[in-house]
Amino acid sequence: MKLPNVFAGLENLSTGVLVLDGDDRILHLNPAAETLLGVSGALFAGQRAGEAFERSPELSTALRTVRDTGETVIEHELDVAVGGHPPIRLGCSVSPMEVPPGGLVVELRAVDPHLRIARLEQARLQQEANRELLRNLAHEIKNPLGGIRGAAQLLERELPRESLREYTQVIIKEADRLQSLMERLLTPHRMPRFGAVNIHEVLERVRSLVLAETPGVRLRRDYDVSLPEISADAEQLIQAVLNIARNAVQAITGNGHGEGEIVFRTRVARQITLESRRYRLGLRVEIIDNGPGIPEDIREQIFYPLVSGREGGSGLGLAMAQTLVVQNHGSLECESRPGHTVFAMFLPLPG
Ligand SMILES: Nc1ncnc2c1ncn2[C@@H]1O[C@H](COP(=O)(O)OP(=O)(O)OP(=O)(O)O)[C@@H](O)[C@H]1O
Ligand SMILES: [Mg+2]
Repeated sequence: MKLPNVFAGLENLSTGVLVLDGDDRILHLNPAAETLLGVSGALFAGQRAGEAFERSPELSTALRTVRDTGETVIEHELDVAVGGHPPIRLGCSVSPMEVPPGGLVVELRAVDPHLRIARLEQARLQQEANRELLRNLAHEIKNPLGGIRGAAQLLERELPRESLREYTQVIIKEADRLQSLMERLLTPHRMPRFGAVNIHEVLERVRSLVLAETPGVRLRRDYDVSLPEISADAEQLIQAVLNIARNAVQAITGNGHGEGEIVFRTRVARQITLESRRYRLGLRVEIIDNGPGIPEDIREQIFYPLVSGREGGSGLGLAMAQTLVVQNHGSLECESRPGHTVFAMFLPLPG
C-alpha cells in the first residue's frame, strides 16, 4: 500500500500503531502492529474497526470512549483478538488526531512481563491478608455459636408449650448452618503431601466425578499426553479442578440452549514465574467453557472467599481452589468473556 507521507515515520517504530479515519476505517497499520496482532496490513487496512475488532470488546469500548469524549484513553492491559487468533494481552492508548480529520491513532504494546508479575504478586499478597482476616473472623464467630446452640437446646427442654419448639429449632438450625460455613472457611488446613502425579489421571478423576453428578454434560479432552509427571498432592489438585469444573458445569447448564461444552486442555508451559520463582518448564492446565462468562461486577474478585454470582452459592469454591493450587507451588488465573471462560492452572516441573 502506498503510504501518505504523514505515516511514513511510523514504519520503524517498535510500538504498534494503527490509524483510523473519521469513518472508523483502518487507514494504516505499521509493521510492529502487524507483528503484534499477527495480521497482514494489506488485508487488514480498509476494514471497519467495528468488524476488525468485533472480538475485542475492550478495545472497541476504548475507541468509542475517545470518539465520545475527544480525550485520550490509556489501558494498561486489555485482550485483543483479531482474525481467527486467540486473544493477546496488550497495553494500548487511543488518541484523537487532527489529520485525517476525525481520525484516531491507536498505539499497541506487548504487556511488560515485569509489570504483570508485580501486579500478580501484589494481588496475591492482598488475598493472603484478606484470607487471614477472614480466618480470624471465622474463629471468633465459631466459638460463641456453640454456646448459642447449647443454650437453645437447654431452653427447648424447659419450654412450657411444644409449639414454641419451632423457634428454638430455628436457632439450632441456623447455628448449624453458620457453623458449617465457618468450618469450610477455616479449611483447608492440611499441608500437601507431595508425590509423583500424572496430571491426566487427576483430570480423568474429575471428569468421571463431574459426569456422575451431571450425566450427559459435554466434556472434551485435549491432552498433551507426552507431559511428564509432576510433584504434587493429587487429592488437592482433584479438589481444586473439581471446584473449577463444577462452576463450568453450572455456567453451561444455566443458559439452557444445550450447546454448552467444557474442555480440559493440557500443555507444556515454558519460562513461567510462580511465587517469584522462575521455572524453565511447567504445566498449563486449562478448564474452558463456552458459557455466559463471569458476571462483570465480580470478575476481579472471584478468588476472594464469599464472592458468588450464583443463587445459593457460598463463594468458597474458587478461593479454596486457589489456596490448594498455591500450596502445590502453582498459580491459578482466569480470563472470561461471554462465550469463553478459561481457568488456567500453572504447575512447576522440576529441572
Ligand atoms: N466458568 C464460570 N462461568 C461463569 N461464572 C463463573 C464461572 N466460574 C465461576 N463463576 C462465577 O464465580 C462465582 C464464584 O465461584 P465459586 O466457585 O468461588 O463460588 P460459588 O460457585 O458461588 O459457590 P461454591 O462455594 O458452592 O463453589 C460463581 O458464583 C459464579 O458467579
Ligand atoms: Mg463454585
